[in-house]
Order: sequence, then structure tokens, then C-alpha cells
Amino acid sequence: MKQFLSVKDVSNINALVDKALAYKASPFMDKHLGGGKRIGLLFLNPSMRTRISTQVAAQNLGMESVIFNVDKEGWALEFTEGAIMNGTTVEHIKDAAPILGQYFDILAIRTFPSLKNKEEDYSENIIMQFVQHAGIPVVSLESATLHPLQSLADLVTIKEELQQSTLKNRPKVVLTWAPHIKPLPQCVANSFAEWMNAWGEADFVITHPKGYELDSKFSNGASIIYDQDEALAGADFVYVKNWSAFHDYGAMLSHDNSWMLTEEKMKITNKAKVMHCLPVRRNIELSDEILDGPYSIVTKEAGNRVYSAQAVLSEILKFGN
Ligand code: CP
Repeated sequence: MKQFLSVKDVSNINALVDKALAYKASPFMDKHLGGGKRIGLLFLNPSMRTRISTQVAAQNLGMESVIFNVDKEGWALEFTEGAIMNGTTVEHIKDAAPILGQYFDILAIRTFPSLKNKEEDYSENIIMQFVQHAGIPVVSLESATLHPLQSLADLVTIKEELQQSTLKNRPKVVLTWAPHIKPLPQCVANSFAEWMNAWGEADFVITHPKGYELDSKFSNGASIIYDQDEALAGADFVYVKNWSAFHDYGAMLSHDNSWMLTEEKMKITNKAKVMHCLPVRRNIELSDEILDGPYSIVTKEAGNRVYSAQAVLSEILKFGN
């Protein structure tokens, strides 16, 4: 693997998932693989799980990691080609990225979208400039449109549940929109849809109020059902997530609290397992009764972030250069 920006960088999804599960069973089996290697974890936006799980994953492989909170500690970066830098930005990405490329063997970046300029966000302008100028493998820790490390952990969790239960081999997986108090990126939903479609071993349904259609380049292949109850019927896994509108870019079109998953709605499902990438706004996106009840696998899902990141770093260490 030369980089990890989306599922398109993965040649064999099931093999990568199996590798993550093997690391879960034996976290230190490749503890010398990353000896003498260093990963830089750059954050232009906040994180808890992604930051710590990737750091632990690197440590399990014997790699050193350096965290740099660009948003709080670094010089403000300029990404516009030809910019006359007489404003608030101090250093151009064309100057900063090649230097980081000398300090590290792998560079991992978190950068959220503006939610104001769709064309710029969907061009992945920021992470692609790191790819262009750093000269070393780049890993997405969530970019403007995708969150592939999250989606890999989601799939690892689904496959782990399938292996540990009597669930049928081709599960019904439902991605449902949930309410929120502010507009959020489409990244997690886009990415989950892209991975589920690429995996192809589930009956995959997306449900949301009208107007929340995702970019079809990610959702094509899923069944789109606007009636949440109809979508939830017989579901084995329900993935809950808010996102803002893609077409009316960044807009919050609905505040309909009836979209929040409750115990009553769970009765429609096939005793579904409930997933969420976290952090979650309790009793807005998901009710206490779901998060604290037997349906929720969100903690297991977040735990699997370590082994998913470890599988990706391991592939890059072996084949990235
Ligand atoms: N799910 C996720 O990416 O969590 P963090 O924002 O805490 O990294």
C-alpha cells in the first residue's frame, strides 16, 4: 500500500480486515516491523480516537510517533497556489510539506471540510497537497470528504460480529441519518457508503430525510429509502450518523427529532447491533437507552480503531516505499 486516502487504496478489503483482526488477537506480533521508523500525526482539527488509536497502532509496530496540532501549535498554513501571503497564513504548504517529508517515514493528516465551498472541499485540496509535496506515504486521519480509517474499523467490527454470532453471512446494514444541533461533514457517511459498496457482502440501505442525499459517487450501489421504519425492518446492523446536506451544501434541512433511534424503533430490526463513529450527542443523535443498552457496539467499534490503523500502517511499512 502506497497511501491510505480511501478504499481505492486497498487491493483486498477482506485481507486487510483479517489482518486487523489478527492484530487484535496478537497486537505485538509485528513489534519490530516499524523499528527505526517515525510517523507524523498532523491535526488541523480536533480528535480523540483517531489520534490515540493511530499512536497506539504505531507503538504496537515499534514505530515512533510525533503528534503536531497544527491548528493550535503550528504556523497557519496557506494552501492557495500563487497566494500573496499578506494575511493570517504564515507558511505555504509547498514549503512545509517537503520538510515534514524529511522528518517522517509516514505522514498522517486530519483536516475537516469548510462546508462552505463544495468544489474546494470535494477536490480534497488540503490532503492532496500534502500528498503532492511531502514525498512520503500519506494516511488520512479524516479528510474533507472521507474517513477511511473509521470505515475500516467499522467493517472490522461488522465482520467480527458476524464471526462471533449466528447472524447470516450476508447481513442487512442500514446507514441512518440522525438529528444534530449543527451542520457536520458528510465524511463518515460518504466513507461508510463507499466501503460497504466496495465490500459488496451486505444488503446495504441508506435512509435519511429528503434533501440529505449523499454524493452519488459514494452512495451508488446502496438502496436509498426515505422511510426510516421501512429501512430499519430486519436490519442486522444500524449505523447512526448525522451529516449536513451535500446538494444544498452544508445546510441543515431537518431538525426532525423523530429520526433519533429509540428502543421502540429497534423492535423493527433483527435485534440489530448499533454503531456510531463517536463522539455522539446523547439524546440528540442517539438515545441513552440505545447507547447504554445491549444493542450498542460503539465501544468495541472504537477499540477496533487501533487494529485497523495497525493493519494499514503495517501494509505501508511493508510495501509503501
Ligand atoms: N471517530 C473519530 O474519528 O473520533 P475522533 O474525532 O475522536 O478522532
